[in-house]
Amino acid sequence: MTKQMHLNLFIHSRGHHEASWRHPDASPLPLTNVQYYADLAQKAEAGLFDSIFLADQLALGDDVARAARSWLEPITTLTAVSMVTSRIGLIGTCSSTYTEPFNLARQFASLDHISNGRAAWNIVTSWSVAAAKNFSDDQQVSHSGRYERADEFLKVAKGLWDSWGDAAMLDNRKTGDYVAYDQVHPIDHQGEFYSVKGPLNMPRSPQGRPVLVQAGSSETGRDFAARHAEAVFTAHLEQATAQEFYRDLKARVVKAGRRADQALILPGFSPAIAGTEAEAIQYRDDLNALTDVEVGRKRLSGRFGGYDFSHLPLDTPLSPDDFPDPATVEAARSRTEVIVGMVRRERPTLRALLATLAGARGHYVYAGTPEQVADFMETWLNEDCADGFNLMPPVLPKMLDVFIAEVVPILQKRGLFRTEYTGTTLREHYKLDRPST
Ligand SMILES: Cc1cc2nc3c(=O)[nH]c(=O)nc-3n(C[C@H](O)[C@H](O)[C@H](O)COP(=O)(O)O)c2cc1C
Repeated sequence: MTKQMHLNLFIHSRGHHEASWRHPDASPLPLTNVQYYADLAQKAEAGLFDSIFLADQLALGDDVARAARSWLEPITTLTAVSMVTSRIGLIGTCSSTYTEPFNLARQFASLDHISNGRAAWNIVTSWSVAAAKNFSDDQQVSHSGRYERADEFLKVAKGLWDSWGDAAMLDNRKTGDYVAYDQVHPIDHQGEFYSVKGPLNMPRSPQGRPVLVQAGSSETGRDFAARHAEAVFTAHLEQATAQEFYRDLKARVVKAGRRADQALILPGFSPAIAGTEAEAIQYRDDLNALTDVEVGRKRLSGRFGGYDFSHLPLDTPLSPDDFPDPATVEAARSRTEVIVGMVRRERPTLRALLATLAGARGHYVYAGTPEQVADFMETWLNEDCADGFNLMPPVLPKMLDVFIAEVVPILQKRGLFRTEYTGTTLREHYKLDRPST
């Protein structure tokens, strides 16, 4: 049988290209208007996507003077969006470093109840130094320390979601029995970072637990994903590294005692689409012409934990020696590996590197016709690189509209994408088991 792909819409700013917010095709709505997110979710649902996804950072970017980087808090936004959609999955980002497991377990269980089983948590450990400073943490917790804490956080959160039996809620007005209390259990967790008695103060949600999504791709991040993640976002600039990642992560999932199909791998993909390849390239070039190199330089610095790149000339070929060793980076480690890997292979100038990263921050950028975009996706799907895609339209809503109108029908015709929803929960769309208590 033909393998079918999963599609997630990653909603970010007015599109994933750094300059999208200024583009005439971008939405006229302010990024604080919930209607913007509701409209995109409804479009994605009409296009039969599995899910939408909101990322999050816990600090204001220092490039905001010239870059559209402000947004609404994800869980509240997704809750509002859940009321105007009925099928599409809702993936929200929340940091395991800067919240308590009890709060988070409750919020996502609530979202799962409110949306009738469509909630997912994108687990992040927060790589940004600026975020640490907003949470009384002047010395950012180290890369490995953040993952150690996240592991214990997950143990507690899963325990809380499982603390109610599926049939514990009785709500029997005749007998006066509200809850079968023998099916509700404390978790009595005492660990290195958390001490949580439990149980959760609400019944088990439709999916049992929200779907767990994760996006760390470093060595530590991969092991963490293998233990916990049911969907994995990842960034690649070439097919070879995407394939290496896919095979490596599936092997780690199996080694962790799980089935390989219970962890979907969704690489980021940002296509500019037009009637001819030349028009699509022109669209991308027009966007690149709107970028601000100093915004790019600041973003690059943030990825490397604040490393200063201000001395580097814009038009001289770069060398890996211009960057710190990714193994020493305490911030977004795997993304720094992607960037230094590209510099090693291609020796771009700083200006060219920043243009590539402006496209989608280190995810795969592409320009082509609908047929070419479908061919690309089919190749990655069939050559062990992806179970689907984290679609990152360069301009929203325009490039989403074009994708749904022009690319989705081709994928459907080839048997690569659903022609109707067959389930109602995100677990059903992603074909994930419902965890038992
Ligand atoms: C598609 C994608 C989305 C991400 N979204 C967020 C996010 O919203 N917030 C965040 O702090 N980190 C986000 N990250 C970063 C990862 O969670 C992780 O911190 C980063 O990849 C560094 O982890 P690593 O060092 O294990 O690779 C995202 C990464 C990817 C690939």
